[in-house]
Amino acid sequence: MIGDIPQPSPHPMPVGPLVDRITQDPTGWRRKSLISLFDVSAEQFREALEIAARIKAFDQKRTPGIAWIYPRTLGLLFEKPSLRTRVSFEASMVHLRGHAIYLAPGDVGLGVREAVEDVARVLSRWVDVIAARVFAHETVEELAAHSSSPVINALSDREHPIQAFADLLTLQEYRGALGNHLKLSYVGDGNNVLHALLLACAKMGVNISAACPEGHGPDPAYVQEALRIGATTGAQVEVLHDPRVAVRDADAVYTDVWASMGQEHERAERARIFAPYQVNSELMAFARSDAIVLHCLPAHRDEEISAEIMEQHRASILDQAENRLHTQKALLVLIVGL
Ligand code: CP
Ligand code: NVA
Repeated sequence: MIGDIPQPSPHPMPVGPLVDRITQDPTGWRRKSLISLFDVSAEQFREALEIAARIKAFDQKRTPGIAWIYPRTLGLLFEKPSLRTRVSFEASMVHLRGHAIYLAPGDVGLGVREAVEDVARVLSRWVDVIAARVFAHETVEELAAHSSSPVINALSDREHPIQAFADLLTLQEYRGALGNHLKLSYVGDGNNVLHALLLACAKMGVNISAACPEGHGPDPAYVQEALRIGATTGAQVEVLHDPRVAVRDADAVYTDVWASMGQEHERAERARIFAPYQVNSELMAFARSDAIVLHCLPAHRDEEISAEIMEQHRASILDQAENRLHTQKALLVLIVGL
């Protein structure tokens, strides 16, 4: 008897035009794995920022946003710790009336207890989308290759693509439309965060200048791809060694930890090498006087960023962290659909 069958609880109906846009999927996000920004077009990147901005506006007006008619499930498969990525994904799924299942480092034993391909095949029988945080980038590629659900790279040693969506949304909020009137300067390690920023800025036509110590620059494949894209979008891309040159006239100065997860044993050695790359008031004097500071967090005060600059610019850094939520909700609805 139909009356006895539990029905899904009523949810706020999604807002019309936004839902139409997501349903029509004009840029081809649906069921796409997000492993690297190499594989995200400028149109897709812009679409995600637009949807995120609209979801954020709905949230702030406390109007009903988007809700899945029945709960979707997200598997969070993490080999490394996390605050922002885990909580923003879990909160995203709560807002969308879905559910996230967190698998902590050590729970699954990816590639040790069980082959990566088997984990992908089995987990994707239960969940609509997987977000994986891994050491080797090849692990997230292998997961995507064997998963029947889309896979989102929630950070690998090579790239942190979802971070870049939040970074560019934050820049857009503080500076208006993105374009090559803007310059983002990155100072520090040529790591996963810089790799994603190089591609994201190039795709959005934002000039990017990075300063890294000798031997700690980004993978040349990312620089070459950013230069290639920049030639079509007008974004200037440069990687150099002098942080003062990199931050000259910058609209945004961005830094990240000097020792990423998995490199903790190198922290003391890196602190010595990277010391001239600290974002502090002396360095900020070379940027525009109204430049914002961005940091993906977690931060190590008085290492890559002085405590003073961290405190002075906490508004933009916290907005950037908040924007992880809005951009990931956009990516989830674009990839999973409604
Ligand atoms: N920025 C970022 O990804 O933070 P977590 O490592 O805390 O997820
Ligand atoms: N580069 C850092 C980013 C943390 C969000 C790391 O990989 O640890």
